[in-house]
Amino acid sequence: MVFHSSLLVCVLVLFVSPAVGVTAPGDVTGLAAFKASVIPSTVPAWSCMASWNFAVDPCVTPYRTYFVCGVTCSVDSTGTTHRITGITLDAVGYTGILPVNSLSKLTALQYLDISNNNFHGRIIASTFSTLSSLRTLVLSSNSFSGDLDSALFVKLKTLVTLDLSSNFITGGLPNTLGSLTSLRTLDLSFNRLSGKLPESLPPNIVNIAIRDNRLKGVLSKRTFESLKHLAVVDLAMNNLSGDLEAWLFRLPSLQQINLSNNSFSHISVDNVGSRVRSRLVAVDLSFNIIEGSLPKTLAMRNGFPALVALSLRHNRLKGVIPREYSRFKRLFLDGNFLNGKVPKGFFSVSEVAGSFADNCLDGCPPAVFLCAPEQKPRSVCKEVYGGIKY
Ligand SMILES: *[C@@H]1O[C@H](CO)[C@@H](O)[C@H](O)[C@H]1NC(C)=O
Ligand SMILES: *[C@@H]1O[C@H](CO)[C@@H](O)[C@H](O)[C@H]1NC(C)=O
Ligand SMILES: *[C@@H]1O[C@H](CO)[C@@H](O)[C@H](O)[C@H]1NC(C)=O
Repeated sequence: MVFHSSLLVCVLVLFVSPAVGVTAPGDVTGLAAFKASVIPSTVPAWSCMASWNFAVDPCVTPYRTYFVCGVTCSVDSTGTTHRITGITLDAVGYTGILPVNSLSKLTALQYLDISNNNFHGRIIASTFSTLSSLRTLVLSSNSFSGDLDSALFVKLKTLVTLDLSSNFITGGLPNTLGSLTSLRTLDLSFNRLSGKLPESLPPNIVNIAIRDNRLKGVLSKRTFESLKHLAVVDLAMNNLSGDLEAWLFRLPSLQQINLSNNSFSHISVDNVGSRVRSRLVAVDLSFNIIEGSLPKTLAMRNGFPALVALSLRHNRLKGVIPREYSRFKRLFLDGNFLNGKVPKGFFSVSEVAGSFADNCLDGCPPAVFLCAPEQKPRSVCKEVYGGIKY
């Protein structure tokens, strides 16, 4: 008898306690429309989305059978209405488009990550522009195509992270990117973006990656100089060109810059005072067509106290390796036309990792790790430096 009544209490608790309030109807409709837009044969039985059964309330039902994963909710200020605040899909190959009248209804959404699936079509502004609390938007590694909708960026004032990398997005970068006033991380890498960098970038940006696209044109001072928080820039594998000027290396928060595999042709760092102490740690300018000599200023401790890694491999640099460069921990200079004697400092403290191979250096024997496997043939060097003995 005692046993029976405690069982009854248990059963009551199970049925009564979760039934606090309901999920906002618009959220449920929007989520259901989102699921309906995914091709059913791409929703495996074990996946998150397969557990989304709209016969029950997404936020209120115990999460053991339905809505097992993929959806996050919180109770709003009334204490009874549940709102869908996050969607994080599993990477199972969900295939579909994002219809305008699906996600746009989830107006309390703060976090949306549908990466590593097979969503496709153009990313349309009106799908997202109603999401006035959205902080994170991750659509990476899908099959989105078409141009960036310039209206997309105008309303997303709360967005902190935007990752559209590894899709098939084409066209130019709209100037409206600069409207993303809260954005700190932007990743558009591995797409097919073309044209120049926009005149304005998000003003509070910390990390920018637009690696492996088809960008061209120069890095303009006007675009970058107001970016006071910019710490990491990765524009490798594009076709950017022109001169890398002193202001770039002196951006106040810049720590890492990768411009490798572009068409930059000059560095001019030497003609600046060292009033600003740069925070730069690593600079990769490899695989460009940079001419001239190695800038000594980059090795100056008063100007660049934190710089430890420099790669200028595979450019067209000439002249000597400055003695001051022995302070770097990683130094790749291979594949240039550097000449003269390697300063002693490099071989005595063998702390420098890197390469001096494939240049026109004197006293850089293949047996020394930094010099292996060999220098350029004498005939090549002779052609570059004329008949002058080096
Ligand atoms: C890259 O740009 C330069 C001029 O800036 C041009 O000469 C070259 O053909 C371009 N390369 C590619 C692969 O588009
Ligand atoms: C810069 O990008 C190139 C090209 O993808 C890559 O090989 C290199 O490792 C990167 N450099 C750094 C310092 O991460
Ligand atoms: C960079 O460019 C060089 C020469 O064009 C090429 O051999 C190398 O594979 C490129 N690196 C990447 C990571 O694409």
